[in-house]
Amino acid sequence: MRPTVAAACAALFVSAAMPAAAADPQSLPWNTIPVKKVTLFYPGESTYEWLLSPAHEKANVRVQQGRACTSCHDEEDTKELGDKLVKAGPLEPSPIAGKKGTIDLQVQAAHDAEYLYLRAQWKTQMNREGRMHDYVRFDGQKWQWYGHDRNNKNVRAGAEPPLYEDRFSIMLDDGKVARFAEHGCFVTCHNGMRDAPGQATAEAIKRNPLLGEAGMKTDEVRKYLPSTRHGPGWDQTRSAEDIAKLKAEGGFLDLMQWRAARSAPVGMADDGYVLEYRNFDAGKNPFSGNIDAKTMTPKFMFDPAKVGARALQARDIGDASKPAALVREANAVPYDPNAGWKEGDILPGRLLSRVDAKGSAADNDAVFGSWKDGTYTVVWRRKLATGNPDDKQMKVGGRYTVGIAVHDDNVTTRFHHVSFPLSLGIGVDADVRATTLR
Ligand code: HEC
Repeated sequence: MRPTVAAACAALFVSAAMPAAAADPQSLPWNTIPVKKVTLFYPGESTYEWLLSPAHEKANVRVQQGRACTSCHDEEDTKELGDKLVKAGPLEPSPIAGKKGTIDLQVQAAHDAEYLYLRAQWKTQMNREGRMHDYVRFDGQKWQWYGHDRNNKNVRAGAEPPLYEDRFSIMLDDGKVARFAEHGCFVTCHNGMRDAPGQATAEAIKRNPLLGEAGMKTDEVRKYLPSTRHGPGWDQTRSAEDIAKLKAEGGFLDLMQWRAARSAPVGMADDGYVLEYRNFDAGKNPFSGNIDAKTMTPKFMFDPAKVGARALQARDIGDASKPAALVREANAVPYDPNAGWKEGDILPGRLLSRVDAKGSAADNDAVFGSWKDGTYTVVWRRKLATGNPDDKQMKVGGRYTVGIAVHDDNVTTRFHHVSFPLSLGIGVDADVRATTLR
């Protein structure tokens, strides 16, 4: 079923939504485009505060001065870092048994006058895709959340299955964010965030004037840039006015994530930016909630005429012939409370729609992932210049910095693999040089 949905979406964009100049990223001559090999390593709890502390032996002063990570950590050392940090130690208090320390990523890039095209390939640890996320299960009486990431205590205890989406993420800067060229994603990773040392309490966050009740009304600390704080510490927040000024000056990072559950089934990636928080771009994401949190009632179920059943079962996890996502315009119908639900029925807690995705949040509308024999291949198309104020604008001949991350095998937050920063050249020399298409 799922390939049918993806193919339908692809056909849709080829016939209608695609301007004449855009190439289909699935049919570029990738085998003629150079491959850059990148080692992604498991970073454990090496937050920016740790990297700037004396615990980062003899390196903290150099990092404070702005020395690049890769001036000391070469390729071989990067592999050692990952293999060491994935095990229990000072930077990993809660290791995941058997997890790999590194991922070998292959990256290719190309461009034409209007678009950047990327292809990324990597091997997964699990022998299947991670394309289920935020599911609910009927227990005979009511619907309950079912499955979590591998760090979840119920999953660790074996009481619930590991169910979390695989992801491929790109952070992008045009030189406006201090130290991103030298330190990459690490500038966004701080103590106080979810699953990081000193994780902030919901109460403390609610009292914060920027993040809390009086401001953004969140109860989590997410990725942020040091420029949005007036001192070290997640709670040293600057005013909303200062942050709006930083944003207008371009002092933010683009952050785009291909999500195997929440965007891939509709041929998209999400689009966000990191500034005082990990924000989504203006507009509407390809995914939204499918569960009324107050009553724990689903809003949509599978269309039995198209899927063969209203719900899935635990045995369908990992069955590639079954759809894992509810796509409003493709395989979903409104939830029927009287459909004779049985214990063990499972449904996605998210609803996807390509048709409903709008605005800057829907910029990455030609991103296709496939998984075969243990390897993902993701191809991506994005406008060099989107014209949106929450995106980084690129141009032919420009050189940018990217940081890459993969969330592999049912993990979230910091349990991912990351790259040191890489330069990206649009037709010019760089770590990753986008080949000019003719
Ligand atoms: C001046 C050289 C230098 C710079 C610059 C530097 N490091 Fe290090 N780093 C070291 C040394 C030396 C060690 C300790 C020896 C080791 O384990 O490799 C270390 C250790 C680490 C460790 C911990 C490994 C462990 O054994 O627990 C991490 C993670 C790390 N560095 C990441 C980074 C990142 C990310 C950057 C850039 C923000 C960076 N380093 C910049 C020299 C440097």
